[in-house]
Amino acid sequence: MEVMKAIKTRRSIRRYKTTTVDDKTVDLVLEAARWAPSWNNTQCWRFIVVRDSNIKVQLAKTLGKVLGRPNPSADAVRDAPVVIVACAKLGKSGYFEGKAATDKGNCWYMFDTALATQNLTLVAHSLGLGTVHVGLFNAKSVADILAVPQGFEVVEMIPLGYPDEEPRVRPRKELFEIVFYDKYGC
Ligand SMILES: Cc1cc2nc3c(=O)[nH]c(=O)nc-3n(C[C@H](O)[C@H](O)[C@H](O)COP(=O)(O)O)c2cc1C
Repeated sequence: MEVMKAIKTRRSIRRYKTTTVDDKTVDLVLEAARWAPSWNNTQCWRFIVVRDSNIKVQLAKTLGKVLGRPNPSADAVRDAPVVIVACAKLGKSGYFEGKAATDKGNCWYMFDTALATQNLTLVAHSLGLGTVHVGLFNAKSVADILAVPQGFEVVEMIPLGYPDEEPRVRPRKELFEIVFYDKYGC
């Protein structure tokens, strides 16, 4: 699939068919993540592929609420055939020789992991699979469930499976609202 078409037709998928996703296909989407760019090529990302139903139930329970409303992806994490949990090794991205290299401190791991996971979701979509980026959950609880070691942070969860819904397009701001020329606001 052409890249622009994949970007424009990807949707967050929160309902999945029970059809399994084979290991080769999972490897392919992880391969897309592996080839993302990263700070000084440090590749801080790590991925945990969860297929175990009991673990998925536990993960789904960590999803938070916004203003008292449940996370709309809780069922997706529980029911998708695969959940990929993206983690990052801290102290690598944004650092040179152990020292934070920018005035943004220790946040670049989020950036690098996002690049990798967006590669993953786009390639998944090009293969007919659905995904959703899930960020609203208790990361400490997820780390405990998955035995993520100290020095690593859980960044996001990505349910992966064949879509069982065709969600509407969520609107995007127009270019004139988000792009300036030469100076901010111009
Ligand atoms: C960093 C990030 C965190 C997100 N967290 C959640 C989440 O916790 N639960 C959820 O249902 N969707 C989550 N989403 C999905 C967004 O709601 C969705 O991408 C947005 O509404 C646009 O819809 P679209 O992906 O179908 O274009 C998240 C997306 C991003 C990029």
